[in-house]
Amino acid sequence: MSRLDFEDVTVRYGHHTVLDGVSLTVPEHQIMGLVGESGSGKSTLARAAVGLAPLSRGRVLLDGRPVQSQGRRRPIQMVFQDPSSSLDPRMSIGRSIAEALPERLRRAPQRAEIARLLRLVHLDPDRAADPPARLSGGQRQRVAIARALAGRPTVVLADEITSALDVSVQGAILNLVREMQRDSGLTMLFISHNLAVVRYVATHVAVMAAGRIVEQGPTDRVFAAPATAYTRKLLASMPGGGPRPGP
Ligand SMILES: Nc1ncnc2c1ncn2[C@@H]1O[C@H](COP(=O)(O)OP(=O)(O)OP(=O)(O)O)[C@@H](O)[C@H]1O
Ligand SMILES: [Mg+2]
Repeated sequence: MSRLDFEDVTVRYGHHTVLDGVSLTVPEHQIMGLVGESGSGKSTLARAAVGLAPLSRGRVLLDGRPVQSQGRRRPIQMVFQDPSSSLDPRMSIGRSIAEALPERLRRAPQRAEIARLLRLVHLDPDRAADPPARLSGGQRQRVAIARALAGRPTVVLADEITSALDVSVQGAILNLVREMQRDSGLTMLFISHNLAVVRYVATHVAVMAAGRIVEQGPTDRVFAAPATAYTRKLLASMPGGGPRPGP
């Protein structure tokens, strides 16, 4: 089980209401794409789910229970746009992954677990001793994903994880995301400004405008028959928003 529910989530910074009563369910084992123009509140919604944005109203539930009360478990993990921000340049990538392992896996046969995680993201386990500088941007993003998976999350929040990558490696990372959902049964909130990318990976799509969800539904339906003028405009104006783009 791993359903993520946002209920009436409201975030204010001073007088600025950044999220205004957002209610959204990311169904178990599904990938919910979150789109909307810059500043609409997408990153803030993800941050709210991991306690990095202050809620002035509402709550976030994981399988019906408030996320904040789940103690030492880290069932929700985030992956960011810039993989360098989550990797210490002085540490080997293996070490970075080891640091994210749950307490009980921190002892003895760490090497096997690190190798398993590197293989999972299609990196050669022999590279565990490499520093991040020896990797390409796409490889670093794979390490960041492995690091997130090290915590054995049931939910992953991905915030523009392919935006900083060369177009040539974006596809491979997107395939990895689909694989994680299919094989590991992860539930994901997948934020991207690139609608073609969202169309490729997401099973469901939610559209944000000025701190509110204006539309949500299965990906095929939202793209084929957007229900709001805002979504129609977004589809028309964003890269890959037109009919039948590839990733
Ligand atoms: N810590 C903060 N303090 C004050 N204002 C903030 C803070 N974090 C975000 N905001 C404001 O909240 C609004 C939404 O920001 P957010 O980063 O969630 O948007 P976004 O949809 O992720 O945009 P982008 O597509 O550019 O990443 C913006 O107006 C931003 O300036
Ligand atoms: Mg953002």
